[in-house]
Amino acid sequence: MSRIKLVGAKDGPFLLSPVENFIDESGETRAVQGHTMALCRCGHSRNKPFCDGSHRKANFEAPAVSLDLEV
Ligand code: FES
Repeated sequence: MSRIKLVGAKDGPFLLSPVENFIDESGETRAVQGHTMALCRCGHSRNKPFCDGSHRKANFEAPAVSLDLEV
């Protein structure tokens, strides 16, 4: 079992780490740069499920949250 962290950045995305790779919808394994995956939680990204920075333009507001997960 390993531990990963899910952080909801204040007014920003969910940050999942450490993540080395993920498998996309076509079955291809893709590396995660910096071992942190930023996932949209504002609903405005044009590259869902990933954050593309659109939360800033949308003035998204959300509290900071943090969870430690075991997988
Ligand atoms: S949280 Fe960044 S685009 Fe949605």
